[in-house]
Amino acid sequence: MDILILGAGGREYSIGLALSKDENVDKIYFAPGNGATDTLGENLTISDFSELADFVESNGVELTIVGPEGPLVDGVVDVFESRGLNIFGPSKSAAQLEGSKIFMKNFLARHNVPTARYIETDSLEEAYKFIETLSTPIVVKADGLCGGKGVIIAQSYDEAKRAAGEMLSGNSFGDAGTKIVVEEFLDGYELSVFAICDGKDYVVLPAAQDHKRLLNNDKGPNTGGMGAYAPTPLVNDDIYRKLDERVIVPTLEGMKAEGMPFKGVLFIGVMVVDGEPIILEYNVRFGDPECEELMPLLKSPASELFYKAARGNLADAKIEFYDKYAVGVVMASKDYPYKSSPAAEIIVDDIHHDELKDNAHISYAGVSRGDDGKLYATGGRVLVCVGLGDSIAQAQERAYMLVGQVHFAGKQCRTDIAYQAL
Ligand code: AMP
Ligand code: GLY
Repeated sequence: MDILILGAGGREYSIGLALSKDENVDKIYFAPGNGATDTLGENLTISDFSELADFVESNGVELTIVGPEGPLVDGVVDVFESRGLNIFGPSKSAAQLEGSKIFMKNFLARHNVPTARYIETDSLEEAYKFIETLSTPIVVKADGLCGGKGVIIAQSYDEAKRAAGEMLSGNSFGDAGTKIVVEEFLDGYELSVFAICDGKDYVVLPAAQDHKRLLNNDKGPNTGGMGAYAPTPLVNDDIYRKLDERVIVPTLEGMKAEGMPFKGVLFIGVMVVDGEPIILEYNVRFGDPECEELMPLLKSPASELFYKAARGNLADAKIEFYDKYAVGVVMASKDYPYKSSPAAEIIVDDIHHDELKDNAHISYAGVSRGDDGKLYATGGRVLVCVGLGDSIAQAQERAYMLVGQVHFAGKQCRTDIAYQAL
């Protein structure tokens, strides 16, 4: 079958890479894709949803997979489904789980899914009052999509009040901050858990851990994610069971009961506090860079997983994973995450070592192809070096061996990805 992938990041590259090795897949299209996805398929310049649906129809593309949250929140799935096209992702109404933190928090409360104590408000007075009832640190979040930057962890009451004031006045996040959530700080370790859902049934992927801070030892500013690994040994059967019973099942049943069955990736941001999984947030798409580690762990054909989920037939699928570990190290540009950096040519040394050739690869993200045919680092997170192994240590070693083969001016990466598991 032919498949279209919407998006331009390392996440979409890694989905394309998995599909390119799948014998059920003939041709892969990306819209828009990046400077490296053209080695896996064809990049399209169409962005309008109806025009994309026209393309899919006239070219016999059997499945569309949506990578990022933007088009989901904007209703791309509704447009495709109204025309009878197969698309993997949640409807616009179901995508509110990510598109509105207030919708998400109220949904969790309605369905008794454990989450941090909170209020939603558009009143500064109310925010101040609630802030006074919490102990520090205090978490203040803008309601809408802010590209992962709408969360302030305030260390003092003053800072929390200032953050609430700036958001509510529209100064920090514009309309996305005209309503806010104030919540208690959860102290524990964070997991990324992904369930592939078809509206009724689901498959839980091996739990991953992301590294959101820029610098080693989780120091420095928050980023989109500087590296991840999976499966993490920090999740045992007891936590998986609690996630099933207390989180995934009530969420999928709740979404169905509220008339918006959830199809696509349910990304569960979990904080484990004293052995109890508490939900920080939902996203409605794969994490990036978590997807780059999960795709190579998938043993079953990727097309089967996505196609059956899109068609509501996951119950018929037997999805298997390799008994291996994957570690992904993000290589970012010089001024990430503060500002964009000048384009820099990427040079990858020839890899002669068989161990590395067979057990490591690059997922390209913020890259562009120059007129000279060379690949340039043009985005913040440029690429992810992924290593696979029989242990986390081995996967980590291979990922960093590959990092050593990749060169571009100003490259930066953490050197401790997966440290919590080692
Ligand atoms: P969010 O966009 O809601 O996932 O928040 C971004 C990051 O802020 C999360 O990945 C956590 O690391 C952190 N965070 C958010 N909410 C809380 C909370 N209630 N307690 C502790 N950390 C939090
Ligand atoms: N890596 C976290 C995210 O994609 O939001």
